[in-house]
Amino acid sequence: MTKFLFILCTISALNFLATQKTVVFNILDDGAIGDGVHDNTDSIRRTILRATDQQAPCTVLVPGGDFLTGSLEIPSNVTFYLAANATLRASDNASHYSCVPSMTSDTGPCDYPFLLVDHAHDVHLRGEGRIDAGANSPPGHLVHEYRPASNMLIPTEWTLPNCSYYSCRPKLLVVRYSSSVELTNITIMNSPLWTVTIVESENILFDRVTIVGDRRWPNNDGIDLINSRHVTIRNSNITTGDDCIAIMSHGPSSMFNITVENMNLQSTSAGIKVSAYERNSTGDMYDMVFRNVRINDTNRGLCVAPRWGTGRIANLLFEQMSIETRFFGLDWWGTAEPIYITGLSANAERTWTGLMRNVTFRHIVARGEQGFLIRGNTSILQDIYFSNVSLTIARWSNVSEHPSLDYRPSQEPQMSRANVDGLFAMDTNGLYLENIEIEYVEPKQYYYGQCLNISNVTQLIETNIQCRNVNFLTSGQTNWKTIDKIVIVFFFVILAFFINLL
Ligand SMILES: *[C@@H]1O[C@H](CO)[C@@H](O)[C@H](O)[C@H]1NC(C)=O
Ligand SMILES: *[C@@H]1O[C@H](CO)[C@@H](O)[C@H](O)[C@H]1NC(C)=O
Ligand SMILES: *[C@@H]1O[C@H](CO)[C@@H](O)[C@H](O)[C@H]1NC(C)=O
Ligand SMILES: *[C@@H]1O[C@H](CO)[C@@H](O)[C@H](O)[C@H]1NC(C)=O
Ligand SMILES: *[C@@H]1O[C@H](CO)[C@@H](O)[C@H](O)[C@H]1NC(C)=O
Ligand SMILES: *[C@@H]1O[C@H](CO)[C@@H](O)[C@H](O)[C@H]1NC(C)=O
Ligand SMILES: *[C@@H]1O[C@H](CO)[C@@H](O)[C@H](O)[C@H]1NC(C)=O
Ligand SMILES: *[C@@H]1O[C@H](CO)[C@@H](O)[C@H](O)[C@H]1NC(C)=O
Ligand SMILES: *[C@@H]1O[C@H](CO)[C@@H](O)[C@H](O)[C@H]1NC(C)=O
Ligand SMILES: *[C@@H]1O[C@H](CO)[C@@H](O)[C@H](O)[C@H]1NC(C)=O
Ligand SMILES: *[C@@H]1O[C@H](CO)[C@@H](O)[C@H](O)[C@H]1NC(C)=O
Ligand SMILES: *[C@@H]1O[C@H](CO)[C@@H](O)[C@H](O)[C@H]1NC(C)=O
Repeated sequence: MTKFLFILCTISALNFLATQKTVVFNILDDGAIGDGVHDNTDSIRRTILRATDQQAPCTVLVPGGDFLTGSLEIPSNVTFYLAANATLRASDNASHYSCVPSMTSDTGPCDYPFLLVDHAHDVHLRGEGRIDAGANSPPGHLVHEYRPASNMLIPTEWTLPNCSYYSCRPKLLVVRYSSSVELTNITIMNSPLWTVTIVESENILFDRVTIVGDRRWPNNDGIDLINSRHVTIRNSNITTGDDCIAIMSHGPSSMFNITVENMNLQSTSAGIKVSAYERNSTGDMYDMVFRNVRINDTNRGLCVAPRWGTGRIANLLFEQMSIETRFFGLDWWGTAEPIYITGLSANAERTWTGLMRNVTFRHIVARGEQGFLIRGNTSILQDIYFSNVSLTIARWSNVSEHPSLDYRPSQEPQMSRANVDGLFAMDTNGLYLENIEIEYVEPKQYYYGQCLNISNVTQLIETNIQCRNVNFLTSGQTNWKTIDKIVIVFFFVILAFFINLL
C-alpha cells in the first residue's frame, strides 16, 4: 500500500513537472546523496548554479531521499521542487551559514538563513516533500537545556558572528526584496528560530503549506511578514512555539493587502499577531483580512500589539473564527486571551505613538481561560467593533497560575494580578459591541470577574449583550442577564487631546 502510494505520488510529481515544460535539474546529477549523512552543500549549489545560468523558468528537483545540506540561495525563475518522500535537511555546521543583514534589531544585525531568496522574482517552493531544520528532532538535537517549570526548551546558541544573544540560530527561510514568491504543498519543520521570514517583498502566496515546530521552542515563529504587501496565506496549517503568523512593521514602507484564510493554527504564543517593533517602524499597516481561521490549544489567539515606532494600523477584519486559548505559564507571552488589542510603549526609550483605527471582529466563537483585552495608552485606539461574538470562560489547563493583565513588553506594570473579565477595555475612543454573549462556566474560579469591565472609553455603544456570570448564580440556575444600553460620552480631555493633535 505504501509503495503503491509512493508510486502514485512520484507519478503525480513527474506529471506536474512534465506539464511545466521547463528544464529540470536533478540534484542527483551533481552528485547529491540522499542518505541523511553525506554533506550535499557543494553538489546542490552546483545544481542551482546550472539553473541560474538558464535565466528562464526552470526546476531544481530534490527526489526522494534525505539530503543534508548547508545554506542555499534560490535564484529568480527557479521552482525548487521537493518530491514526495524528499527531505531537505539543514546542516548544523555554523560555517555553512552566512550573514544577511536583518531588519530586526531584536534578533541582531545578521540573519543566518538556511534558504535565502534575495532580490529575486518568480521563485517557487513546491512539492509533497519536507524541509527539516532539526530543532529537537531527533529529540535533544540543538537543545541546550529543558526547563520543566516553564515546559520550555532552551536552544543551543550557535557560534555565529554578529547575532544577538538568544537568537544566534539560523532562520529557516528568508525572502527579502523579492516578488512573486510561492510556497505550495510543502512541509517545513523544526526551525531553530523563525520559520519563514518575508521582508520588503510583494506578491507572496502560501497555499497548502504545513509548518510544524516544537511547541516548547522559543522564537519558533511560523510566518513573519515584515514590511511586505500583496500577500495571501491560505489553506495552511501552522503549529509552533512562538507566533504562528506575525505581521510586523520594522521599517518605513507600508504593509497592505494581506489575506489570511482557511487556516488551522496552534501556538504557545499568539495565533495571529500584528505589531510594530523598531525605531524605524513608521510604515502604515492596513487593509488586512483574516477569515475562516481555527485557533486551538493556543496561548493568545488574535493579537494586535504595537510597542515601538509610529505609523497607522487600520482596517483590519477578523471574521468567521473559532478560538480556544489556555494558560501555558508566564514564561511565554500571553495569558490565554482569545483577543488582545493593546497600543503601549515597550519602555521609556522605545515608544509607540502611532494610531490604531477600525479593527473589526465578527462571527467569532471563543473559549478561553482568560477574556478579551483592549487597552490603549500612549497611542490612540479608535473604532473597535465586536459583532456576533461569543465567549465562554472556563478553566481546564493544569498550569498553576493566577491570571494576570499581561502587557509585555511594556512600561511598568508589565504584569499585574487581575480577575478574569469577559471584556476588559480601557483608554479607547470608540468601542462598538453588538450581539455579544459572555458565559462563565462552573466550577466557579476565585478569580472570575465581570462580563464587562470598561473604563475611560469614549463613545461606547452596546447592543444586545448577554451575560451569564456564575458570580450571580445559585447553583443549577441558568440565569442570563441582558445588558442593553447606549452610552456616548465625550471627555473634554479627549477633545482637547484631538484639538492639540490638529
Ligand atoms: C526570468 O525569466 C524571464 C523569461 O521568462 C526572463 O525575461 C528574465 O530575465 C529571467 N530573470 C532572470 C533574473 O534571469
Ligand atoms: C523514503 O525514503 C527513505 C530514505 O530517506 C527510504 O528509507 C524509504 O524507503 C522511502 N519510502 C518509500 C515509500 O520509498
Ligand atoms: C563544518 O564545515 C566546514 C566547512 O565546510 C568544515 O571544514 C568543517 O570540518 C565542518 N565541521 C564539522 C564539525 O563537520
Ligand atoms: C498541491 O497538492 C494538491 C493536492 O494534492 C494538488 O492538486 C496540486 O496540484 C499540488 N500543487 C502543486 C503546485 O504541486
Ligand atoms: C560584524 O562584526 C564585526 C566586528 O566584530 C564588524 O566589523 C562587522 O561590521 C559586523 N558585521 C555586521 C554585518 O554587522
Ligand atoms: C490542515 O488540517 C486540516 C484539519 O486537520 C486538514 O483537513 C487539512 O488537510 C490540513 N491541510 C494541509 C495542507 O495539510
Ligand atoms: C492583493 O494581493 C493579491 C495577492 O495576494 C493580488 O492577487 C491582488 O491583485 C491584490 N489586490 C490589489 C487590489 O492590489
Ligand atoms: C531605517 O530605514 C531606512 C530605509 O529603509 C534605512 O535606510 C535605515 O538603515 C533604517 N534604519 C535602521 C536603524 O534600521
Ligand atoms: C486542535 O485542532 C487540530 C486540528 O486542527 C486537532 O488535530 C487537535 O487535536 C486539536 N487540539 C486540541 C487540544 O483540541
Ligand atoms: C474599516 O475596515 C473595513 C474592513 O474591515 C473596511 O471595509 C471599511 O471601509 C473601513 N472603514 C473606514 C472608514 O475606513
Ligand atoms: C501608560 O502610559 C504612561 C505614560 O506614558 C506610563 O507611565 C504607563 O506605564 C503606561 N502604562 C502601560 C501599561 O504601559
Ligand atoms: C483615557 O485614555 C486616553 C487615551 O485614549 C489617555 O490619554 C488618558 O490619559 C486616559 N484618561 C484617564 C483618566 O486615564
